[in-house]
Amino acid sequence: MFHHPTCLIHPPGVPAFIETQFPIARLSAESYKERKANNGQTLTRLGKWWGRKPLILVRASILGMLMPASNNPKKDRQIYLKIFTMDDAGTWDRCKLAMQRKTKRAAFDALPYAERITHSERPENVIGPTESAWAEINAHLGTSATRLPELIEQLGQRTFGHTPRVGDSFCGGGSIPFEAARIGCEAFGSDLNPVAGLLTWASLNLLGGGKEVQEEVMRVQAEALQAADRQVTQWGIEHNDRGERADAYLYCVEVKPEGCDYFFPLAPSWLAGEKSKVVARWHRVAGSDRLQPEIVVVSDTELKLYKEKKGATVADSRAIDPFDAGRSWSIEALRGPEGLRRWTNDDVVPRPGDVFQERLYCIRWIDAEGKRRYAAPDAADLAREAKVLTLLRERFAEWQREGLIPSKAIPENGDKTDEPIRTRGWTHWHHLFTARQLLVIGLLGQQSKSVATNVVEVAASLLGVGRLSNWSSRLCRWHTGLAHDKGEDVFSNQALNTLFNYCCRPLKPLRVSWAIMDETSPKLAGDSKTSVDARDLRETCDLWITDPPYADAAVNYHELGDFFLAWYDKQLAKAFPEWTPDARAELAVRGDGEDFRRSMVEIYKNLTRHMPNNGLQMVMFTHQDPAVWADLGMILWAAGLKATAAWTISTETEAVGIKKGNYVQGTVCLVLRKRVGAEPGFLDEVYPLVEDEVKHQIASMQALDEHGEPNFNDADYQLAAYAAALKVLTQYGNLDGRDVEHEVFAVRAKNEKSDFQAVIERALGIACDTLVPRGLDNSWRELSLVERYYLRALDIESRGERRQGMYEELARGFGVTDIKPLLKSDKANGARMLTPSGFAAAGLAQVGGGNVDALPARRGRASSGASHPFAASPLRHLLFAVRETAAADNGPEPGRQYLRDTFGQGYWSKRDGFVGLLEWLAALGNAQGMNEWIADSAATRILAGRLRNDHA
Ligand SMILES: C[S@@+](CC[C@H](N)C(=O)[O-])C[C@H]1O[C@@H](n2cnc3c(N)ncnc32)[C@H](O)[C@@H]1O
Repeated sequence: MFHHPTCLIHPPGVPAFIETQFPIARLSAESYKERKANNGQTLTRLGKWWGRKPLILVRASILGMLMPASNNPKKDRQIYLKIFTMDDAGTWDRCKLAMQRKTKRAAFDALPYAERITHSERPENVIGPTESAWAEINAHLGTSATRLPELIEQLGQRTFGHTPRVGDSFCGGGSIPFEAARIGCEAFGSDLNPVAGLLTWASLNLLGGGKEVQEEVMRVQAEALQAADRQVTQWGIEHNDRGERADAYLYCVEVKPEGCDYFFPLAPSWLAGEKSKVVARWHRVAGSDRLQPEIVVVSDTELKLYKEKKGATVADSRAIDPFDAGRSWSIEALRGPEGLRRWTNDDVVPRPGDVFQERLYCIRWIDAEGKRRYAAPDAADLAREAKVLTLLRERFAEWQREGLIPSKAIPENGDKTDEPIRTRGWTHWHHLFTARQLLVIGLLGQQSKSVATNVVEVAASLLGVGRLSNWSSRLCRWHTGLAHDKGEDVFSNQALNTLFNYCCRPLKPLRVSWAIMDETSPKLAGDSKTSVDARDLRETCDLWITDPPYADAAVNYHELGDFFLAWYDKQLAKAFPEWTPDARAELAVRGDGEDFRRSMVEIYKNLTRHMPNNGLQMVMFTHQDPAVWADLGMILWAAGLKATAAWTISTETEAVGIKKGNYVQGTVCLVLRKRVGAEPGFLDEVYPLVEDEVKHQIASMQALDEHGEPNFNDADYQLAAYAAALKVLTQYGNLDGRDVEHEVFAVRAKNEKSDFQAVIERALGIACDTLVPRGLDNSWRELSLVERYYLRALDIESRGERRQGMYEELARGFGVTDIKPLLKSDKANGARMLTPSGFAAAGLAQVGGGNVDALPARRGRASSGASHPFAASPLRHLLFAVRETAAADNGPEPGRQYLRDTFGQGYWSKRDGFVGLLEWLAALGNAQGMNEWIADSAATRILAGRLRNDHA
């Protein structure tokens, strides 16, 4: 019904650009740049959400799914990059003017992409391609666009007969629907969680609300802030009589353990300001069991000691007497065998008998000129503290009733929510805030509530309150640093960790957090739903792009979200009566067990039902361990989808460092189509098809990588090869008559594999095996699987891969079960293979024994160690010969002799193969970061030379 009669429907069977290629390196660099912008990221201003996807990645994915691939992949790539101003000319145009004045175009183009864009605007912030670029784009695509939304519209018309409709059923912080709307799609987002719902709604209706709405938001927020400021000033709770205003309050927990006759304060460090060299010291006060803080500036030498935690009164979960470091009490024991007293709703500060007391120990003041000063609180400050408490108490009940401050209890037994209850006795969300914090945030909420007249204004107020609660809570760590000292936000990590000392932000520094926007932008069209379980969605979309909560990478969204929901609570329910103001933990997809798989299959079946036959899906997931993706592949297969491509974008780490491999966290983008029909597959026919597809995929990537900056790294090749395998498998509705879904859920004994898993694993094997390290093509077929694994692992190591997960994943592909004996280090981000000499040190060589008389006994020979994965491997003897050569002072002779003795007559037929392998190994020492190979490489080269010239 949507089809336009004259439109040219995109011929079926033509793959989308993203099904053939994706500019991984450039996109990773752009994603990283966007991430690094922190508050400059378009959506972060609206509020905290965990793991928002970079907008550039969303934008790139949508166009990649809409743009057809031609038979000229290089041209496709050029055009695709041009559309985003990510081609060389576009990047130059985006580059800040100042840079253009300093640098010549050619020199700029010669820089690595990641470096170039440090000087440029982000693609989302520029107007777009130039007129001549549009002419090229249109010529290639047969379109007539002058702006990105027009192009999106035309491509959508051609494929679907209407403006493309993009949906996300797990929309979280809203990146996907927001960006889809911004580039001209009809956007739809939904999420189970109301906190996510508010963020997504706000991204479309406030940030995307157009000038009028945005000005209204800015106006009401500013009015509320001014009113709150007048009130705070009138109360006199943040000003002192020196004309200064408070800029930060530092609080700490105090304890008086048994056997100690004074209360002492707890903190893992008493450094207050690194740049200003300010620390807190504690003194006894005659006749009192309370200590007195002194805030002092110290010498560099002493500062260094404080940085090394001098005087810390908490270390290793023990409370340490500040005057006798030899005396300490375990924190757990202090909490007592019964645990702490549980706070009740009306507790705002600890009661006198509580184990953990609280006190203000330092205030940072700022004067009219912006000069800052740290001081211990004096009597007037303490009187102001008391006044704050009184003011709050006067309002407490009413504010709770009106939903201006939280009143909900913290759910017990949660993974994350249990910590505040157990470690502080805090049973209600408002216990996570000091009296001052509740008073200031509540006041802002109250002022904006009194001016808000509609849903836009209420939402703006709630988002502002949400941001304040993240930036001023008992869970805000005080961070000292050379650049500046400041309070961190609660969710600088993904937990609810309680602290011994913390920062409270007064109103003045909170201004920045309060404002959710400061400029206007065009109006967007988009629709969002909240409190919708993805199983129950009824919307139809042409493209579904989802980022499901997945396995171990998943954040406990529902638990963490409750922190904000506690503040939104009653007002949210009033403003959005159709939303369920509850995180509905029981419906949240999580974990990785059977339940998780069932809900995922159900959800993706539902989404697949709600898309046209020529629609596409992208499933994104962030992974630390690449092994998880294959599992997800099975789930999607069972849901009626077939995989058509997979790419990894490094969204979290510096793109320049990608090739070095350290700490890379990638987002895998799995592209899928609906499996129409249920074509049967047969196990024995699948393998050759997989082999062809894998080879084809790798060859096409290599062709794109031939010139210029490499786009793909090893992990990319491997993933693409796996995806190719999955592509073949998932096109079938059943294999040898067996139904996929049935297989996914069949009950099996532990470690028992289904045939399907076996196929996937063999397919992975083919994938791995197709990636023959350059230079080893001739000897590859002769090698055993474990030998291939060792060499391929060395190959990735020489390119800087250090993630242990990659080495394990590779092992899976080669069917190697135990890689420990081959690894020098199995640190999570420092994996390395053993060198020949390293093997000797690790026990590959045993002294004496064997039938090789010619070898001096003191040197030993390769141990027979039957349990070693290299047990019967010629490569092992070769490595041993290398290490013999390296250890000998008389050249390659002992090594060569060892090989001749070991292989007897067989030596001659193996010799050429040995030379090839040795030459390959010798080159390892030249690779960056392979210093450990330098000595062995030299020995390898000498041995290779000797073998090459050997004569019978
Ligand atoms: C990884 S996050 C999505 C992040 C999002 N793509 C972004 O850029 O901000 C996963 C989301 O799935 C939601 N979720 C979990 N179970 C759900 C269910 N059964 N139905 C709908 N949403 C669910 C969570 O609330 C969470 O927001």
